[in-house]
Amino acid sequence: MPANPGFTFILFGATGDLSMRKILPALFAAHCHDKLHPQGKILCVSREPMSGDAYRESVRSHLERWRRPGETGEAADESFLQRLDYLELDALAPASYRHLAARLETAAGVHVYYLATAPVLFEPICANLAACGIDLARARVVLEKPLGTDLASSRAINDAVARVFAENQIYRIDHYLGKESVQNLLALRFANSLFEPLWRREAIAHVQLTIAEELGVERRGEFYDATGALRDMVQNHLLQLLCMVAMEPPTSLNADAVRDEKLRVLRALRPLSRDELERNVVRGQYAVGAVRGQPVPAYLDEPNIPADSRTETFVALHAEINNWRWAGVPFFLRTGKRLQQRMAEIVVTFKPVPYPILPIPPGLSGEVSNRLVIRLQPEESIKLHCLAKQPGDGMNLQPVVLDLAFDKAFAQRREDAYERLLVDAIRGNLALFVRRDEQEAAWHWVEPILDMWSNSPLPPKSYPAGTWGPASSSTLLSRAGFAWHEER
Ligand code: BG6
Repeated sequence: MPANPGFTFILFGATGDLSMRKILPALFAAHCHDKLHPQGKILCVSREPMSGDAYRESVRSHLERWRRPGETGEAADESFLQRLDYLELDALAPASYRHLAARLETAAGVHVYYLATAPVLFEPICANLAACGIDLARARVVLEKPLGTDLASSRAINDAVARVFAENQIYRIDHYLGKESVQNLLALRFANSLFEPLWRREAIAHVQLTIAEELGVERRGEFYDATGALRDMVQNHLLQLLCMVAMEPPTSLNADAVRDEKLRVLRALRPLSRDELERNVVRGQYAVGAVRGQPVPAYLDEPNIPADSRTETFVALHAEINNWRWAGVPFFLRTGKRLQQRMAEIVVTFKPVPYPILPIPPGLSGEVSNRLVIRLQPEESIKLHCLAKQPGDGMNLQPVVLDLAFDKAFAQRREDAYERLLVDAIRGNLALFVRRDEQEAAWHWVEPILDMWSNSPLPPKSYPAGTWGPASSSTLLSRAGFAWHEER
């Protein structure tokens, strides 16, 4: 396979929100940076009757907004629009696919089917593609989350897709894996000999992983209410981040080598006992409050949310990994909407020195200083919090930070996660996509939490919008003698 093959990218759901918000802007960026084969085409498919020209015009009206600093103007716009074509297709009507087959008959290179549709359509789309005589040997299919709502439904979707595509043709997107900063975590761990000897239970006290959002449910109320934070963020993004932090060094960066190691972490997650489900998992829902000084409504007052909804907008939990490297080390995972600040962060807290021969100032435990803070967004940085001696008399210790800010260290443009992932799908690189067994192992682990909540008489704990979640999220850590990074 050439490094940059000719392709036809077939975008199902081409008039939908995801296509306009993420997929087409990412393809546009890849186009502007010459990452797409010059003859590559994008066939946009949707049920709405529309001509190719009308579709191109609607895309044209967004290009100015999608363009990022440094991206060239009009010529790039025109050549991008020339890649686009449009086909009206009813995903549920087998006869419609004859037109698709006719369009693809002479389309050279690889065919990448991107299903930016509701997951209920995955099965009929795949079955109809198989039935209409299109050559699927050179095809790949890219699937958006959520892939199911529990283990059984995710298996059903995977089975349906597997009837048509081999596993190595299936690209399950978790856009967190495409983030530059998550890639960098691999570099930090596996390109530096400094961290590896310390990256284990003997040296690490606990690990925190946070993905916090300021946004509420926006216009996605109906989807979100049926989903909740556990399915939306924990089952996929947070557990994938956990894998990147906890996995053993893979033998190479080959897709299966990396995915095998992530799978081993997921399989080693200690199942939560009944008691732990109650004590170690916090479920929250935002109440009225203010984010960055702006008043915002309660979750229950958002559009399309039932007044008695028990859907969680916040989850914090304490997980453990049953293997030799990590046994007994708490991993605290947390995510929520309408929190105080948008940020994603991994905090690795090392154990304090065995015996303090230097006087550690009150309120500054050795733990605060022995911290590696990996900020994934909004800015990207790695900070090592240490203690140093204050200049002058005596031995007065003071916290200092060794700070690596990536935007200062590297002038290059940061690729957007979708851009990287779509280019990888076109080039046939599966390393940053989730394999079926990983996805199912993640469902297997979270499912008891879903079951417990659906049987619980208790509603989620309320937290004012603009805070860090319910108070019990802090208790989760304080019980073990720790605190969330921002609470220190
Ligand atoms: C998506 C979730 O997968 O990730 C959204 O469905 C969430 O609810 C988004 O807002 C967060 O992604 P990012 O890249 O903005 O942190």
